[in-house]
Amino acid sequence: MKSMHKKMLAVCIGLAIGGGFSVPAMADSAPSLSVINWWTAGSEAKAMHVLVQMMKAKGVNIQNDAIAGGGGAQARTILKTRLMEGQIPGAAQIKGVEIQQWGHTGLLANIDAAAQAGNWDKNVPAVVNDYMKYKGNYVAAPMDLHRLNWLWYNRAILKKAGISAAPQSWPELMTDLAKVKKAGYIPMAGGGNGWMIATEFDPIALETGGPTWYKDVFVKLDPKAIDSPTMVKALERLRAIEAYTPKSLAGRTWNFDTALVAHGKAAFQIMGDWANGQFEFLHVTPGGPQVGCVAFPGTAKEFIYNVDSFIFFRQNTPAKRAAEIKLAETMVSPKFQLLFNKYKGSIPDLMNVSLNGYNACQKKSRAQFLVARKENGLVPSFSQNMSTYGPPTGAFIDSLDKFYTSNETPQAAAAAMAKRVEVAKSQD
Ligand code: BGC
Repeated sequence: MKSMHKKMLAVCIGLAIGGGFSVPAMADSAPSLSVINWWTAGSEAKAMHVLVQMMKAKGVNIQNDAIAGGGGAQARTILKTRLMEGQIPGAAQIKGVEIQQWGHTGLLANIDAAAQAGNWDKNVPAVVNDYMKYKGNYVAAPMDLHRLNWLWYNRAILKKAGISAAPQSWPELMTDLAKVKKAGYIPMAGGGNGWMIATEFDPIALETGGPTWYKDVFVKLDPKAIDSPTMVKALERLRAIEAYTPKSLAGRTWNFDTALVAHGKAAFQIMGDWANGQFEFLHVTPGGPQVGCVAFPGTAKEFIYNVDSFIFFRQNTPAKRAAEIKLAETMVSPKFQLLFNKYKGSIPDLMNVSLNGYNACQKKSRAQFLVARKENGLVPSFSQNMSTYGPPTGAFIDSLDKFYTSNETPQAAAAAMAKRVEVAKSQD
């Protein structure tokens, strides 16, 4: 990663202006900024459209560069390729700890001017803001706050299977999955690819080991916590979920699975609340008569968080520089965040805006975030790059993917995971 960054820096350095620390006046012609992201599901595209429209009204042309692939691996590869070729985007979807890695390249722009105008220091929770700064300056803007530890369920299927309420514990979930199978429906939709498997494992790991163990594994990368009986137990649980997920769903996307739940084909889906936005897109309101949301069993007190954010690049014209500051300001403005997050299924980063018109699951999410923040229940999602930088995240995802798609034993998988993470620690 470091050598790639050096090459990118060499290509781009001649193009970038100043340190990006002052905001020149807007030029007359509408500047165009490419915004790289991986929001290609219907709900995601609809939410992104809000940004394009709002920026248009402000005289800035946004090229919505959406590159397919949940989790963004493809989008990040294309971003690097473009930079190597000297094509500088306006902003790119980069999240969590990875923002620091990008900070090291010297390619990022300082967007303190936008942060000051919107008073992000005061209006955005510190747990979010801390990711957005590199060496004390803002280089990224947050757009949403997603919760990972949700279980989505189809009410009619549960009823037909003789289940009177959503499961609240692991044993209840196991009993319910068996009942749904007996009733002839798909018990669990999921398992489409490595990123989805890791996303499902996120709440399973938290439920199995609790927040302290979770952080030892995914934040501290402690080999003893990784290759441990608790990890073995968590992997056994992943196996148990896999047994209720049809093999035919391999290769399918998360939003395909959401549609199975929405349309009464599958009973459950474990997924972050971008699924919430997709249910709404399919005209099914979670928390309403067709589909319910419940905290993943055993994690009701915790909030595994994922913040979508965009890094900004040093631009080669004053007009583009001014446009990117406008873009950053807009991304964190109350008006934008309210509209965007409603479609996205998440909640605004701004805690002081009212969630009128949001669905019941979004309201629960805000309430739970505020409780978890007070009671030490905020957990950074490993599968969404919130807890560690690229190579270790990749090591976890590869290990889980291999385990899920082979006959590897949980013991062997835990040991292999610890080894892969040790190797990854030396890469940056
Ligand atoms: C992003 C979400 C997105 C999801 C599926 C996650 O990594 O943070 O914003 O909706 O991927 O595309």
